[in-house]
Amino acid sequence: MERRLLIAPSILSADFARLGEEVRAVDEAGADWIHLDVMDGHFVPNLTFGPQLVKAIRSYSSKCFDTHLMIEPVDPYIEAFAAAGADRIIVHVEATKHLDRTLQLVASTGARAGVSLNPHTPESLVEYVLDRIDLVLVMSVNPGFGGQKFIPAVVEKIRRLRRMIGARPIHIEVDGGIDPTTAPEVVAAGADVLVAGSAVFGRPPYEQAIAALRAAERHLVR
Ligand code: DX5
Ligand code: ZN
Repeated sequence: MERRLLIAPSILSADFARLGEEVRAVDEAGADWIHLDVMDGHFVPNLTFGPQLVKAIRSYSSKCFDTHLMIEPVDPYIEAFAAAGADRIIVHVEATKHLDRTLQLVASTGARAGVSLNPHTPESLVEYVLDRIDLVLVMSVNPGFGGQKFIPAVVEKIRRLRRMIGARPIHIEVDGGIDPTTAPEVVAAGADVLVAGSAVFGRPPYEQAIAALRAAERHLVR
């Protein structure tokens, strides 16, 4: 497994009128993955976009489309996101009654599968699905909006997850309030993928913004 720090800019904070160009710009500025935040106005109190938009921006980058589904129910939409070009589909443990079945559904589409945990959700809920996923997404804000304040309690959860995962090839991704100040702390705890919306799109030039986050790589737990 890749033991380097990966940066995944969230297009939630991009200019939606120029979304394709924004995706290309962060790709060229050094983004490792493109993080797509899908919201339904039901599981989270905000609405963003669906598979049609994912398909529309697909040709602007060949990097991993890291697709974070904040929708409930989620099962009926998995196939459509995979067909639209999502490389990884991340579902919330709180948004499905039968997580194991949902992850089998993701696998059947050929996409990689990830599971996300809200700030209050204990890491133990992913313990028995570890062989079905390649990533755990730890929410460090309550999902729904960009630009919120980082919740420090999740640092201990990341540490525990890292221990639970052991040598398995599973990424720990952190999402919410990540900037050059909070990044070193979550990386030292065991995270190896950083999602950042406002800290990239709100701080041009993108190349410098991404480099500033990548500086946390020296804290990577190897
Ligand atoms: C929140 C989203 C995040 C969000 C992060 O529900 O999942 O990806 O865009 O935004 P920042 O980096 O601004 O906290
Ligand atoms: Zn996200």
